[in-house]
Amino acid sequence: MLRPPIWKSVVELENRNGILHVDGCSVEELADVFGTPLYVYSRNRLVSNYRRLVNAYRRHYPKFQVYYAVKANNNPAVVKVLADEGAGADASCLSEILIAQRAGIPVDKILYSGVYNHTRDLHYAVDNGFRLNLEDISQIERLVTVPKALCFRINPGVGLGGAEGLVFAGPDAKFGIPDRDIEQAYRMAQQLGVERFGIHMMTGSNILSPDYFEAIVAKLLDIAGPISQRLGIRFDFIDIGGSLGVPYRPEQDELDIDDVARRVTNKLREKLDLYDMGEPDLIHEPGRYLVCDAGILLTRVTSIKKGYKKFIGLDAGMNTLLRPALYGAYHHILYANQLNALPDDQVNFVGQICENSDIFAKDLPFSSQLTVDDLLGLLNVGAYGFCMSSQYNSQPRAAEVMVDSGKATLIRERETFDDLVKGTIM
Ligand SMILES: Cc1ncc(COP(=O)(O)O)c(C=O)c1O
Repeated sequence: MLRPPIWKSVVELENRNGILHVDGCSVEELADVFGTPLYVYSRNRLVSNYRRLVNAYRRHYPKFQVYYAVKANNNPAVVKVLADEGAGADASCLSEILIAQRAGIPVDKILYSGVYNHTRDLHYAVDNGFRLNLEDISQIERLVTVPKALCFRINPGVGLGGAEGLVFAGPDAKFGIPDRDIEQAYRMAQQLGVERFGIHMMTGSNILSPDYFEAIVAKLLDIAGPISQRLGIRFDFIDIGGSLGVPYRPEQDELDIDDVARRVTNKLREKLDLYDMGEPDLIHEPGRYLVCDAGILLTRVTSIKKGYKKFIGLDAGMNTLLRPALYGAYHHILYANQLNALPDDQVNFVGQICENSDIFAKDLPFSSQLTVDDLLGLLNVGAYGFCMSSQYNSQPRAAEVMVDSGKATLIRERETFDDLVKGTIM
């Protein structure tokens, strides 16, 4: 049985007689019943990702909380699986607040972290009792009601991320409050009458090095500690953002989450003692880590062209999964209905969109047996997959299915032509 190293711990992906099974469901049956392209999410993998993370941290720091970053995958059924496990939510806009609430997450476990917010959205969040994470000092002046709790997103002046588009801090990043304004931000909040505070930092995404997380917590506490002492602020929570990476390439190793948790909480306790800051909640707000490897994209081969190179056309493209075109992201591709076929050819996988950036893989070693109507599975699409998809080139969006121990449930219908023209006026 061929088992690419990328599957190392994803036990929900199985090779049964050459046919890929996801959480007990055959991809051939899924494709026949629901059509392609199709996003498929494993419920058991979502749950195990959540529990692994929480258990790793709570062992060392009981006041650890996970706030799922809804932007990574906003399907309400996915959010509900995590909400039922006890997750809070990081919401980047009002719609994500509503999705989190609909999934059953209570108001006081939803942190609204918008960027360049509209004043009306700030007022909505405060008036309805959500915690607010501001990333610009000028936003404080626009608040008319005192928020229940206020947090500031810090930009420490340096960033780190898995690709240029995944670096969220530093002088060129649009996010966060620069060093020089941080103390002033908390002072202004105190003057407004705010009594409960948090502090937040998120400098990059898809990080696979435990050192990074230890460094982030040290940096954040070295900012929070002196502020706490000078202004007499007791922080209710310390939010170290998301950023936990997953291996996309077969040669990459998984993040050792036990090691990350041990190092982060050791550093946290050391700094909390140093600055006499009590025991605030420690919040992690991962998106990718919870949902990424729970999702695969099923797509069928639509045509095979022998041009200057061999092009395999698929019914999924940059409209279905944008990350390769957007960041040059790599997604491992499986020959889903012939997993045991050996790579004896070299191909380019492309979509149906009229852009040359509509390409999933270039010169990839693959089996020469591949033929029209065969099924492929793109791995690690549970995060920033469907939610970044579009109707470009008048393509209706794909369907989404949740699979759970052999049972499949449709969680978003495939779009039709009517959805493309809905709301248009001629
Ligand atoms: C404020 C904030 N929190 C959390 C996340 C989730 O990041 P990740 O998917 O890297 O965990 C993001 C991603 O953009 C973010 O902007």
